[in-house]
Amino acid sequence: MDTVAIIPAAGYGRRMENPRPKPYLNLGGRPVLAWTLQAFEEHPEVDRVYLAVAREWVDYAQNSIVRADNFRKVARVIAGGKQRQDSVYCALKELPSTSGIVIIHDGARPFLPSAVLSRAIEIAKSGTGACAARPLTDTIKRISDLGLIEKTLPRERFWAAQTPQVFPYRFLWEAYRQAGNDGFLGTDDASLVERLGYPVKVIPGSPYNIKITTADDLRLAELILKYGLWNL
Ligand code: C5P
Repeated sequence: MDTVAIIPAAGYGRRMENPRPKPYLNLGGRPVLAWTLQAFEEHPEVDRVYLAVAREWVDYAQNSIVRADNFRKVARVIAGGKQRQDSVYCALKELPSTSGIVIIHDGARPFLPSAVLSRAIEIAKSGTGACAARPLTDTIKRISDLGLIEKTLPRERFWAAQTPQVFPYRFLWEAYRQAGNDGFLGTDDASLVERLGYPVKVIPGSPYNIKITTADDLRLAELILKYGLWNL
């Protein structure tokens, strides 16, 4: 049973205030995306990687990242779509129907600890989805359109979802096909699988597995590298 990773990296990073999409921004001397791909290249249980990038960046990603860094596991670099969900679906359509386990991990999360990925794969191999997440430590308020607090929610029941999210192929394929048919748009993969009633288990992610979204996140990422916090 093969284990395949899909890396959606086709966003334009409009919250970054930089015309260059975030996968290609410099982090410690190499593109953000190169760090992400490295985690998969080095993980012994990952067989192949499908990378989705914006259409006009396919050649650059192929030549200046995948070939330049010799990422041998990258089987295809494909053009992604308008939303993250479209990008994942584009890649999912390229996977053989005999695929066993599918990992989805944001290209913009360069610090994936191998232990988190191993645990998520282990759960998916037992037939359940797995979603890396962090328990919320701040108190959670639901607010009105005017910014007034409507309600305080019980924070012990709220977790912030990260990636990796890992699923048996057939769950994920059905979830994406069904979401496409229903016009359902989610901001992560588990939300598509959950709505079909399939179980998805939350596993503790890493505080350093940040998604690089803003210029501040990139500065934080430089510090994570500088202090060697990744993989702790
Ligand atoms: O936009 P968001 O922060 O949710 O993006 C998460 C990941 O999804 C990023 O790695 C981004 O490049 C990717 N993405 C994508 N296709 C899009 C939008 C986002 O692959 N159309």
